[in-house]
Amino acid sequence: MQQTLDDLNGRFGKAGVSFKEGRGGMPYANLATGGGEVDVYLHGAHVTRFEQKGQPAVLFMSAQSLFQKDKAIRGGVPVIFPWFGPRQPDPVGKSPMHGFARLTEWQVESVEKQGDVASVTLALTPNELSRSLWPHDFKLTYTVTLDGDVLKLDLAVTNTGAEGLAFEEALHTYFAVGDVRHASVEGLAHTTYLDKTDNLTEKSQDASPIGFTGETDRVYLATQGTCTINDPGLRRRIVVEKEHSDATVVWNPWIAKAKAMVDFGDDEWPGMLCVETCNVGPHAVTLAPGATHSMKVRISTIGS
Ligand code: BG6
Repeated sequence: MQQTLDDLNGRFGKAGVSFKEGRGGMPYANLATGGGEVDVYLHGAHVTRFEQKGQPAVLFMSAQSLFQKDKAIRGGVPVIFPWFGPRQPDPVGKSPMHGFARLTEWQVESVEKQGDVASVTLALTPNELSRSLWPHDFKLTYTVTLDGDVLKLDLAVTNTGAEGLAFEEALHTYFAVGDVRHASVEGLAHTTYLDKTDNLTEKSQDASPIGFTGETDRVYLATQGTCTINDPGLRRRIVVEKEHSDATVVWNPWIAKAKAMVDFGDDEWPGMLCVETCNVGPHAVTLAPGATHSMKVRISTIGS
């Protein structure tokens, strides 16, 4: 269904939740509380901005991002579904990287504003693109909530079909950091990860916080705990707490990969770090008909 701004504001707009025209003429929802603001594009149900009052943005957005109907937005929180990375195997031979959820417009289902809490719920059901790639019935329901100055994301997948549904999913969160070379990540000590920069070799993470000295692309297995990004550059810690997510991806493209991406500035890599809440690889989810799986993340900051 075509969603115009007039229609969206007429049906759903209220104090603290409004719909506006964004880049590329694309509509987005703006959530505003006493603690900050969040923008959510309907294209990809993509959170492009999370700002706490008087603070630098919590999420990184590339200045080179495309805002086009058939392209993913670069930065913020891409929603990855139903496969992560390149599809393997790829029965149609043209499956887009990281699935189709980030390439399509979602429908606004509802909005809420109560006290200092604002939220929008978006939904995605099979469409022409999904059916051409992946012939399954499903419903995605994604609720983005700004609770004061805390961002909460809840991605629910329902199997609306008659057979089991297997999928991968990720909230591919790009955090803004002062300089990734001075940042570190805690919460993944003594775990095992697949190193995507080294042929998916399985490696062990030691006890020390993870530092960054080169391209980093790792799938941490069996990691359900809270991660903290220590960022001396912006003098804060970002706390990522999650539920029903068994894997964590940590990614920074570094110099060569940054140059190779057309929608990412050559010099932007020091200012970002992805810590992704996901169920991927051996942690892919299988849902019985009628069942729902809900993956949640809560993002807050602590000043130093
Ligand atoms: C990460 C993957 O999650 O996403 C990386 O682990 C990938 O391998 C990155 O390069 C970005 O993917 P894309 O499709 O948004 O360029």
